[in-house]
Amino acid sequence: MNIQATHSADATTVEEALATPQHQPVVDSKGATAVAMQNTLLTPRFYTTDFDTLDAIDVSAVRDEWDTLIGTMKADPNKGHFKKNEDWDHIDWENMAPGLKAEFIDFLISSCTAEFSGCVLYKEMKRRGNNKDITELFQFMARDEARHAGFINDALREAGIAVNLGFLTQKKKYTYFRPKFIYYATYLSEKIGYARYITIFRHLEQNPDKRFHPIFKWFKEWCSDEFRHGEAFALLMKTDPKLTSGVNVYWIKFFLTAVYSTMYVRDHQRPAFHEALGVDTDWYGQEVFRKTSEISRQIFPITLDIDHPRWMKGLKHLQKANADLARHKDNGNIFGRVGAMVRAAVAFVGLYTIPAVRHNVPGETRLEPAY
Ligand SMILES: [Fe+2]
Ligand SMILES: [Fe+2]
Repeated sequence: MNIQATHSADATTVEEALATPQHQPVVDSKGATAVAMQNTLLTPRFYTTDFDTLDAIDVSAVRDEWDTLIGTMKADPNKGHFKKNEDWDHIDWENMAPGLKAEFIDFLISSCTAEFSGCVLYKEMKRRGNNKDITELFQFMARDEARHAGFINDALREAGIAVNLGFLTQKKKYTYFRPKFIYYATYLSEKIGYARYITIFRHLEQNPDKRFHPIFKWFKEWCSDEFRHGEAFALLMKTDPKLTSGVNVYWIKFFLTAVYSTMYVRDHQRPAFHEALGVDTDWYGQEVFRKTSEISRQIFPITLDIDHPRWMKGLKHLQKANADLARHKDNGNIFGRVGAMVRAAVAFVGLYTIPAVRHNVPGETRLEPAY
């Protein structure tokens, strides 16, 4: 007998998860959906790709590691986890400091959009594919992301808002990425997602008084899902050595620089949020980059030299240029805007040209979450 799940946390497939109340708009949330609709360099995007190329991947070269990973996803250790239970503390949204409330809601909306972006991409791959290995993997990953997005929408609902995910699916612009760019970008976003969530989780374990919202209690299991998704992309890349050698190493460096610097700039837009958590944003950034770099050695032949004297300086220039850009957008100063854009581009090139650290990639790819 197949009983339909009533919560996205209990769903066994992505279709079932999307049919639950967590994915239905219940309140008028035009503002939240408008935020999620934004397509800038810094906001989460929706992606599409050449699905036939992905479908043609032959995983036999990594069969043992692949089967172990799929076995864990099939066993579904986090089924039923992503919903409120007795650990969910009441939140007094009315009396939350307005600055913190605005930044935290922005954090939840952008996280929900990012989770849902993964869901949409993975679900589409599963729908279009015929390769059993590939469709099975993408079905499991889409299921997980639908649960994550549904859970964040649960949290937002308590503040009286929800992101209309059905509307986003239909109306948000899709950015086309060649499959190899999808591998680099998605692999990194899964692994950096793991590093971000586990760093916050460990920090709040040590400082429970700073846990101003219960959702952080769910971050440990949450990030093991993301870790597994990253493992899958590492194995997909492993099937074709060309993807991580030759000229592609420059692309890897580009994506590492873009993903790290975007995170840095974005996090600095939320000072009240990080202060409430008791986290120094510069420390947090470096800590997350260090973990992500350590993990990405499993597949990438280079890591960024984040201890280089130009690294932190460059990030700060980029962040300042970005803040000025936003300010000039608001006040309509076109010269100021162009100037800030040029400074941002120069800062990015400066970061990109820091010599990378080369190393050998291990024969066996698979890692377990270690932080
Ligand atoms: Fe996720
Ligand atoms: Fe994920």
